[in-house]
Amino acid sequence: MLTREDNNVLTQVGRGTPMGELIRRFWIPALLASEIAEPGGKPVRVRLLGEDLVAFRDTDGKVGLLDEQCPHRRASLALGDNSDGGLRCLYHGWKFATDGTCLDTPTEPSGSAFCSRIRAQAYPTREIGGVIWTYMGPAADLPQFPEFEWLSYPAVNAVPFKVLEDCNYAQAVEGTIDSAHAACCTASSRGARPRSTIMSATCNRRSKSNTPSTACATLACATSARKASCMRA
Ligand code: FES
Repeated sequence: MLTREDNNVLTQVGRGTPMGELIRRFWIPALLASEIAEPGGKPVRVRLLGEDLVAFRDTDGKVGLLDEQCPHRRASLALGDNSDGGLRCLYHGWKFATDGTCLDTPTEPSGSAFCSRIRAQAYPTREIGGVIWTYMGPAADLPQFPEFEWLSYPAVNAVPFKVLEDCNYAQAVEGTIDSAHAACCTASSRGARPRSTIMSATCNRRSKSNTPSTACATLACATSARKASCMRA
């Protein structure tokens, strides 16, 4: 069993955490290109590594991924107006390009240079293989984009899709690399005695209150979570 401290190190991915900083050194998928297919279409909320972002395709077809909160008074840019080459905040009308540059601050006096001192937090994006990818780490450490073979397949041979799993990323990874669960799920679907039953029976120690021990309950819980993951896959 992991200690609480080790578990926190493994599972937390916010900015400044060890795993959060590690994952931010890679290009990661943010959303499907089809979710923002139309230039000038509605912005889409995206939550990545604990950060609330907004994705949009401007009227020129360029893709932006910005902090959802406007740098002025934190209004949601997901409610903004995507038109004429940028995303305009609905609150006071500040307008941002896909790279976070401020294009307009209509409430400032004419001739004001205030706009040039403002930037929205923006992450670089690439649209490849039907997926919008982003890099959320330091600009100086921008890595090369990975050359996965499938990214070069024609659309007829590759179908990008997205599956939302309501769990921590570590559980999804753990389920994916867990080769033991395949035999368990296969036996289950054939009507044979599921391996999970055998494991639970083996671990059937009970406390004085006649409830399964913590270790047993944890094992059963983890097993059912893996099975659910397997069934979804
Ligand atoms: S809150 Fe966005 S322009 Fe004021």
